[in-house]
Amino acid sequence: MKVIKGKTKIAIIGAGVVGSAVGYILKNKGYKIAGIASRRLESAKKAASFIGEGEIFKDIVSAAKSADIIFITTPDKVIQEVCDKITENGGFKKGAIIVHMSGALPSTILNSSKRLGAKIVSIHPLQSFADPKEAVFSLQGSYIGIEGDKDALIEAKKIVKALGGRHIVISADTKAMYHAGAAVVSNYLVAIIDLGVKIYEAVGIPKETALQALMPLIKGTVSNIERLGIPGALTGPIARGDVSVVEMHLEEMRKNLPHMFRLFTELGRHAVRVGSEKGTLSKEDGEKLLNALTRKVVFLNPISEIKVIPRTSRGSYRL
Ligand SMILES: NC(=O)c1ccc[n+]([C@@H]2O[C@H](COP(=O)([O-])OP(=O)(O)OC[C@H]3O[C@@H](n4cnc5c(N)ncnc54)[C@H](OP(=O)(O)O)[C@@H]3O)[C@@H](O)[C@H]2O)c1
Repeated sequence: MKVIKGKTKIAIIGAGVVGSAVGYILKNKGYKIAGIASRRLESAKKAASFIGEGEIFKDIVSAAKSADIIFITTPDKVIQEVCDKITENGGFKKGAIIVHMSGALPSTILNSSKRLGAKIVSIHPLQSFADPKEAVFSLQGSYIGIEGDKDALIEAKKIVKALGGRHIVISADTKAMYHAGAAVVSNYLVAIIDLGVKIYEAVGIPKETALQALMPLIKGTVSNIERLGIPGALTGPIARGDVSVVEMHLEEMRKNLPHMFRLFTELGRHAVRVGSEKGTLSKEDGEKLLNALTRKVVFLNPISEIKVIPRTSRGSYRL
């Protein structure tokens, strides 16, 4: 980007949670929030009031024209469409930097802007935000994946620093895998905790009590991961190679929650891999565990997964 006299001007297109939070922080770090536009005017007004600065534009093209760095912080599915529309209407200045903040999509979805001489970059915080206030706080110290044009990356690093984050440079072609990793530790973590809660509900503990009771354990585990890393933080019967306890878990899971049995065993098999890395699990016990976790898998098709498995006359399950 060319050296800009005075404050670097920012436009926010898509005045939601992330756009508002980024605008707020960057304004307080010396950038000028020149323009704000959104699908609805009320959202742009709300963001301007939260940020404490920014001319509100009815159309996205005029908002983009007002700035040197344009953040397209709309939902992922319309980022490209928004960028293309601004390009078609000549809304990007030569040398402008076009930013989107999606985790899954590469910066190249902004390619159309290059026709006007713009540079492109994606800046993705590895964090989840529910509202702008909380996002301003939680962006501090967050890691932020960046990828895009060389010149734009230099500017992106400055933006990440201003946001209080730490950058990691990724590449456009690995963006979806990079995002899959984030989805696992955030979204799938919620799904795994839900599995634990469902197991407690199956033994008669109400959902709220179950979650409350499991929270200290969840927090302790996360803190151990932070302190000891992986595999160091793995504890429990799999890390100890306690095959008999795992066998008991499997029997109970098969009886009580057969539709979640496959998920349980798949996670168990991955825990065995982690346990082997830790070195507390002997090769022999590791093999016994893998055997138990594979042998007892109930193969159900997705439609029948919600059905209870019929018992045979001898009381065992038909596999
Ligand atoms: N939230 C997170 O946890 C998080 C984390 C990392 C990255 N991100 C990324 O950040 C970006 C924004 O996410 P967000 O959570 O801030 O979403 P959001 O709160 O839903 O905000 C998106 C905003 O864009 C506006 N918008 C929708 N369509 C538009 C269009 N065609 N033209 C102009 N504005 C439009 C919305 O509409 P209205 O004007 O109707 O309000 C809304 O204000 C996404 O790329 C997302 O992947 C989000």
